[in-house]
Amino acid sequence: MRVLGIETSCDETGVAVYDTDAGLLAHALYSQIALHAEYGGVVPELASRDHVRKLLPLVRQTLADAGMIVDDIDGVAYTAGPGLVGALLVGAGVARALAWALDKPAVAVHHMEGHLLAPLMEGDPGSRPQPPFVALLVSGGHTQLVGVEAIGRYRLLGETLDDAAGEAFDKTAKMMGLPYPGGPQLAALAGQGRAGLHKFPRPMTNRPGLDFSFSGLKTQVLLAWRDSDQSEQTRADIARAFEEAVVDTLSIKCERALDEAGCETLVVAGGVGANRRLRAKLEQIAERRGGRVCFPRPEFCTDNGAMIAFAGALRLQAGQHEGASVMVTPRWDM
Ligand code: KG4
Ligand code: ZN
Repeated sequence: MRVLGIETSCDETGVAVYDTDAGLLAHALYSQIALHAEYGGVVPELASRDHVRKLLPLVRQTLADAGMIVDDIDGVAYTAGPGLVGALLVGAGVARALAWALDKPAVAVHHMEGHLLAPLMEGDPGSRPQPPFVALLVSGGHTQLVGVEAIGRYRLLGETLDDAAGEAFDKTAKMMGLPYPGGPQLAALAGQGRAGLHKFPRPMTNRPGLDFSFSGLKTQVLLAWRDSDQSEQTRADIARAFEEAVVDTLSIKCERALDEAGCETLVVAGGVGANRRLRAKLEQIAERRGGRVCFPRPEFCTDNGAMIAFAGALRLQAGQHEGASVMVTPRWDM
């Protein structure tokens, strides 16, 4: 079965074709970063309009890259939420119209389930992680620990009470004068920072539970930055201390979740999963525990169409699809 996947929940237009026998055949991504940069954040109306412009050309390009024509598609998967309502409607409308015209099934995919399943999408099928496992979902909109009992059976173990980890990266970067989108730039800067010059808290790690809170940490960083000499080196030093605080906090809670769930496989997904320090730290922990940690390749940590095609293919294979109405769910629990 060959499934076309469409992702338009925020500021990336992603399209891919996933073949349930041969794996990922092609994927293409168009990022709107340049469009939103001058506003310092995503402008929803501009995002929707740009998806309208880019989506169909990307579908054509992806099909050509896969060596297919549109009639070769066996189903269409699209992100139905959570996300920006106008942006979601563009993807849903195109996906539904295509499916209807081709008389093929369409399936709505939860964006975070797409992220969650991305680490299972590639590699030798025999070595892909199998449930049960614990998933750490760390993106710009979510920070969650999820117990995955089976594909489609998820238990929320903990989540952020305020900012998501990626949001904390982005807001902290903005406070320190870095251009949008700040998270990856802050992470790059942290690589040049010196260790031990600033000490920030590891929020909510000294009490039981698996929830997170990152907004206080952000304030601590603001105070340190405001009272500093604001030199380039200081910015890097503070970035490093901030990154270490986030990475330590996430790691401590991941270990706790593994202990509570009684399993030794951790799967990490979402944009912050591209962070090198986080990847290295979780690898270290897995090695010490004799367990395993799995990440998607960095380009599939952030938003993309491949994860939606893959999640949709699993759902279609399980016999799931919907009627012909175009529905999106901007706020949606997994
Ligand atoms: O999953 P994603 O592409 O979009 C959402 O669904 O939110 O995640 C984007 C988030 C942004 O907040 C971005 O700053 C963060 O992931 N991010 C990173 C890195 N790369 C992306 N945060 C820390 N280190 C990185 N290398
Ligand atoms: Zn995402």
